[in-house]
Amino acid sequence: MKGLFVTVEGPDGAGKTTQLKLLAQELEMAGIEVVLTREPGGTEIGDHIRSLILDPAFAKMADMTEILLYAASRAQHVNELILPALDEGKVVLCDRFVDASVAYQGYGLGFPVETIEQVNAHATGGLVPDRTYLFDLTVEDAKKRMHARGALDRIEQRDDTFRQRVYDGFMAIAADEPARVRRIDANREVEEIAEELRTDLLAFMKKRRDDDEDGNRDRSR
Ligand code: TMP
Repeated sequence: MKGLFVTVEGPDGAGKTTQLKLLAQELEMAGIEVVLTREPGGTEIGDHIRSLILDPAFAKMADMTEILLYAASRAQHVNELILPALDEGKVVLCDRFVDASVAYQGYGLGFPVETIEQVNAHATGGLVPDRTYLFDLTVEDAKKRMHARGALDRIEQRDDTFRQRVYDGFMAIAADEPARVRRIDANREVEEIAEELRTDLLAFMKKRRDDDEDGNRDRSR
């Protein structure tokens, strides 16, 4: 697998989607092949699952159904889109991945994190992002932005204590995996955040290229 797998995570309303689009444009302008995608969704089957999960009409959905539907969407996404793109050497920019299930369904709904991780290890075949940007925005600020966007989906309709647990979950993930997860202060101007992402990702890609070349040199000695 030669490509690069980058994910963005964070509370609803943190501005991830806008930033991913900007980052994709930047990379494409630099001649890098990019696949911009999201979860739940990213495939035709995944988009159907997305409609099921987010529809406020399905208030009676059991928690385990929700966990498995996110994982089902993810299994299809990994197999149909993400792995083939990585095999072709592309940069895959993905709006949410397993960390979202750990934060929302693990910390948020109160399921053991190990259960969420096990289910998702099956769904993804163990695929882990190379780099994750975690958009950090307080529950209060995120809520203001979310409401400004209009009608809320089934998950967004949950209360502030749920949202606070999700936030705490994301912070715990960042603390556990500092080498993969970079925290982004989302309470700044769009351009300032875009600049930080661009600079970090290009530096990350350069370091990986340098490490690969060093590895090749070592092997040829
Ligand atoms: P989005 O609004 O970022 O597209 O995500 C849809 C909603 O689904 C959002 O409220 C976060 C939630 N979500 C989970 O609860 N678990 C997951 O695994 C994913 C990918 C998203």
